[in-house]
Amino acid sequence: MKEVLAELEQRRETARLGGGQRRIDAQHSKGKLTARERIEILLDEGSFEEFDMFKQHRCTDFGMEEQHIPGDGVVTGWGTVNGRTVYVFSKDFTVFGGSLSETHAEKIIKLQDMALQNRAPIIGLFDAGGARIQEGVAALGGYGEVFQRNVLASGVIPQISLIMGPCAGGDVYSPAMTDFIFMVRDTSYMFVTGPDVVKTVTNETVTAEELGGASVHTTKSSIADGAFDNDVEALQEMRRLIDFLPMNNLADLPELTHYDDPERLDMSLDTLIPDNPNKPYDMKELVLKTVDEGDFFEIQGSFAKNILTGFGRVEGRTVGIIANQPMVLAGVLDSDASRKAARFVRFCDCFGIPVLTFVDVPGFLPGTSQEYGGLIKHGAKLLFAYAEATVPKITIITRKAYGGAYDVMSSKHIRGDINYAWPTAEIAVMGAKGAVEILYRSELGDQEKIAGRTKDYEDRFANPFVAAERGYIDDVIRPHSTRRRVARALALLRSKKVEMPWKKHDNIPL
Ligand code: HXC
Repeated sequence: MKEVLAELEQRRETARLGGGQRRIDAQHSKGKLTARERIEILLDEGSFEEFDMFKQHRCTDFGMEEQHIPGDGVVTGWGTVNGRTVYVFSKDFTVFGGSLSETHAEKIIKLQDMALQNRAPIIGLFDAGGARIQEGVAALGGYGEVFQRNVLASGVIPQISLIMGPCAGGDVYSPAMTDFIFMVRDTSYMFVTGPDVVKTVTNETVTAEELGGASVHTTKSSIADGAFDNDVEALQEMRRLIDFLPMNNLADLPELTHYDDPERLDMSLDTLIPDNPNKPYDMKELVLKTVDEGDFFEIQGSFAKNILTGFGRVEGRTVGIIANQPMVLAGVLDSDASRKAARFVRFCDCFGIPVLTFVDVPGFLPGTSQEYGGLIKHGAKLLFAYAEATVPKITIITRKAYGGAYDVMSSKHIRGDINYAWPTAEIAVMGAKGAVEILYRSELGDQEKIAGRTKDYEDRFANPFVAAERGYIDDVIRPHSTRRRVARALALLRSKKVEMPWKKHDNIPL
């Protein structure tokens, strides 16, 4: 018995070493942790249970029959984050560059099947060179099986990808089909084809960082939802994110202990809106002052900054927040902002997370670049996402709600449950200046007349009461009571249930 136990320990020891000390040192010298070190930080101490530690590839081509490393380049298993189950796979770059072989894929597939069957989130840590070149089509088949499971699990369990090194070729498409992608700055990059192939095909010279580094994907392509400075910070932030998410689409929201009184009033909000309607203010201040303890997990914080998206909590329960940001482009809705917010609303709706929307929007951004870029279709994504969402929807208009953007931003007409406005709200087809220029074109030469017309328009429409008279706004609330009113509305809507007509699935304008 003793020998068997010793052999087990020795086999485990070998597996834990992955590609060997030299490659582990190389990994560390690049500022990266190993696959197992990452799992240790991600999960609660001592909670990780590993599967398939001894699994090996079956390839006999290109001398691979001589090279067997137990685990085959990916560490898989489950553990807990603050006591709640998560499944995790972590690519081991020290083993064949973390590349995906048939057996490596089998390990991930097994985990995906278990996560889906047992309805718990799955998180993938990526640091890999794509398909195992020596295996050819067997590796491609493996990817296909992983992709299929990503799709089956979509909307059932949260799927999160954290890119912590290279992520190329087949490795990019699995993350792309998960709910969130995060990256580590300076050490991670994602692309379908690397700089060498780019050079050959397009004669473009580009570095890996320029092609697919964290800054590209968080600011330009919007592929990544956020980036962190190093492995440790990234993993700790993933723990924070998981705390906001339910285990699956039928599970209740996590309920965390909170020390922030839901009745808390914030008098400073009464002066948040500047006297001049064209002056910006920071909408994030309102978000932070509304949620428990100012704890806000921002999604896509560096992309389309004219709209804010992210998770907070009220009375310890998660709420998804979407807010126009007047500090950037006056909070206008453009294609990028519409796509960003639409995806976020859909995530919340999949997982039963109530949606809280703060509105200050001057409309959709005019111009050829927007129209040629498909603003109609992208704007429609957000409209569609809000209109189809059946989770509790609470909307607060702080200032402008003009034109189509008024309808889109979770208005009463698309099943907003509770729609409030601050007394500073202006709900109209457009701003006074634009309206007067169209209605009284013939009087434009007469400054005095135009000033009078503008004042008339402002008096009539630059307020929330016209909408309130029609019941489009449920109440005009005092800014300082926003948190209290939101908390009460969320409590009211806790058992909201909406029946939808049967359909296979909708046809959102992609
Ligand atoms: C097998 C691989 C590998 C791969 C890396 N390695 N990628 N082995 N298959 N795809 C091995 C290397 O041989 C090396 O082994 C070790 O991993 C580390 O690689 P290095 O090149 O030394 O590391 P580095 O300089 O950091 O470069 C990392 C890299 C580079 C950028 C990822 O290795 C690379 O470009 N790899 C190939 C990427 C690629 O083109 N993959 C195929 C994509 S096609 P030793 O023994 O020296 O440690 C694809 C199609 C799927 O994925 C499509 C499905 C839809």
